[in-house]
Amino acid sequence: MTRLPGRSPAGPAPAPASEPSPGPPAQVLAPTPGPAEPPRAAADLRAAAAGPLAQRLSAKYLEEHCLLPLAIASSGELVVAAGTPLDPTVIDELCWTFERPVRLVDAPAAEIHAAILSAQAEVPPEVQASDLRGSDLVVLADEEETIDDLRALANQAPVIKLVNVLILEALRARASDIHLEAGADGLRVRYRIDGVLQEISHPPRQYQAAVISRVKVMAGLNIAERRLAQDGRIRLRLSDRELDVRVSITPSLHGESVVLRILDRGAGVRDLTELGMPSRLLEEFEHLIRQPHGIILVTGPTGSGKTTTLYGALDRLNQPAVKIVTVEDPVEYQVAGVTQIPVNPKIGLTFAAALRSILRHDPDIIMVGEMRDRETAEIAIQAALTGHLVFSTLHTNDAPSGVTRMVDMGIEPYLVAATVLGILGQRLVRMVCDSCAEDFQPPPDVVTQAAAGQPDIPKPRFRRGRGCDACSGTGYRGRTGVYELMRMTEEQRALVVKHAPLAEVRALAQGQGMAPLRAAGWAKACAGITTLEEVLRVTRDEVLG
Ligand SMILES: Nc1ncnc2c1ncn2[C@@H]1O[C@H](COP(=O)(O)OP(=O)(O)OP(=O)(O)O)[C@@H](O)[C@H]1O
Ligand SMILES: [Mg+2]
Ligand SMILES: [Zn+2]
Repeated sequence: MTRLPGRSPAGPAPAPASEPSPGPPAQVLAPTPGPAEPPRAAADLRAAAAGPLAQRLSAKYLEEHCLLPLAIASSGELVVAAGTPLDPTVIDELCWTFERPVRLVDAPAAEIHAAILSAQAEVPPEVQASDLRGSDLVVLADEEETIDDLRALANQAPVIKLVNVLILEALRARASDIHLEAGADGLRVRYRIDGVLQEISHPPRQYQAAVISRVKVMAGLNIAERRLAQDGRIRLRLSDRELDVRVSITPSLHGESVVLRILDRGAGVRDLTELGMPSRLLEEFEHLIRQPHGIILVTGPTGSGKTTTLYGALDRLNQPAVKIVTVEDPVEYQVAGVTQIPVNPKIGLTFAAALRSILRHDPDIIMVGEMRDRETAEIAIQAALTGHLVFSTLHTNDAPSGVTRMVDMGIEPYLVAATVLGILGQRLVRMVCDSCAEDFQPPPDVVTQAAAGQPDIPKPRFRRGRGCDACSGTGYRGRTGVYELMRMTEEQRALVVKHAPLAEVRALAQGQGMAPLRAAGWAKACAGITTLEEVLRVTRDEVLG
C-alpha cells in the first residue's frame, strides 16, 4: 500500500479522549500547508470532498492515498484526483467500490489534503462525537485497525440492541426475511411479511457499518471482508423456539446489503390438506404421489411454497417400510424417519454428488431440493428409470414450462416423457384478514377484465380487509396456495416426445382439465379468500393463452 511519508493517521472522528469540544474548522485546517493554487481548482476539490462520491470513502482512506473522487464522467468513468501515484490495488478498490472504471487526474497533494480536512470540519459535531463513527467505516486501507474498529463498534450495546430488536420485531411480525439495504442515505430495513416487503425503519447512516458488522459477528463471518459476498447462519433460541437464520451479505454500491432469512425449525410440516388445494386437485395430487416410480415436479418462483408442498407429500409417504432420502440446500424442516442431506458446495457436496451417493443407499423415495443443472436432472432421471420415486422443484412460471425447462437443460424429450408423472405449478396469495374483512364489489371493469377467459362463477362474493391491528393495516393476514396440476397423459407424452412448443403442451393440459393458475386464483377471489389484486399480482408473469 502506498502511504504518504510522515503522515499520522487522522480519521474524521475526533481523537476520542482529546478535548471536550470537537475542533472547529479553523483549527482542523491549521496544520495543512496551503500553497495558493488556482482558486477554482481548490474550490472544486473542496466541493468534491464534501460531495456524495467522496462521502462513500472514509476520510482516512482518502488521506492515506491522497485522492478524491471528483465526478462521474459522461463516459461512465469515475474521475479521481490523485496527489501521488496510486497503487494498482487502490485503483482496483475504487473500481470495485464505485462499480465503474477509474480515470485519474493529477492534482496538488496539498490541495487534496486541505479539501479532505475542510470537508471533515463541516461534519456536524454530534456525528463526530458519536461513538459509532459510521462515516469512518466504509473503506479503510489499514486492515488491522479496521477489524478492531469494526469489532468494537459491533459489540457496542446500542448496536447489539438495535440488531436484536430488528430480529425480535421481525419474529413478532411473522416476517420470513429481514432486508438491510445500504442506500445513499443510510440503511433501509424492510421485512418480508406474507411474501411482500414492508418498509420498517431507517436507522441513521452512522449505524450502517456497525449494524452490518454486528450481523457478521453473530453469523461468524469475516468482519474485515467487505468486498465479496458471504453466507453464514445464526442459531437463536427464543424461549422454546429454535430458529435458524440464514445470512447472506452482498457488496452493493453504497456498502454491504444483508438478507436474513428466518427458518423456524420448530414449525412442523403442513399437511397436504392445509395448503389450500381444492379437493379435486388434492385428490389427483394424492393419487400421483402414490405412484411407485417416476418424477413429480413442483414449479413456481422463489418463495411460492414449493418446498412446503413437497414436505406435505413426503409426510404422507413417510412410513417405516419406506426409505426416504432428501438432498436439500439447506434442510428447512426436520422430519423424523427421513434421511436429510444438506448440500455443501464448498466441500464439493453438490446436489449431483449427494444424489449419486444416496442412490447407493437404495432409497425408495428421493427428494431433490431443486433441479438446478443438467447433471442433477440426469441423475434424477436415472433414478426414476431405475424404480425410484423422485420429487423435485423447478423455478418456472407454470406447470407446462416444467417440461420445456428440462428439455432446455439438455434432457432428451423422450426421457422427460418417460419419467415425469406430473407437474404442480403454484403460487401463494395473501388471504383477506378475517378481523377486518368486509364485503366489497370491485369496479365492474376490473371484474370483467379478471373474469375474461375464466370459468363462470355464479355468485362471487368478493371481500377485502379494511386494515386493522391484526394485519398491521395491510388488510391481509396469512397466505394460501393457488395450484395447477398437469398430468402426463399418453397424449401429452406424445407431444413432448415430438418436441412440441410450450403453447401446445399448455393447450393440451388445459384441454385435459387443468385449471390454470389464474383460474384457480380467480376462484379464490370469488370466494372472498383473497382479492383480485392479489391474484393478478402473483400471476402477472404468467403467459396467457
Ligand atoms: N400453502 C401454503 N399456505 C400458506 N403458507 C405457505 C404455503 N406453502 C408455503 N407457505 C409458506 O411460505 C413460505 C415459503 O414457502 P417455501 O419455502 O415452501 O417456498 P419455496 O417455493 O420452496 O421457496 P424457495 O424458492 O425459496 O425454495 C414459508 O414460510 C411457508 O411456510
Ligand atoms: Mg424451497
Ligand atoms: Zn385486519
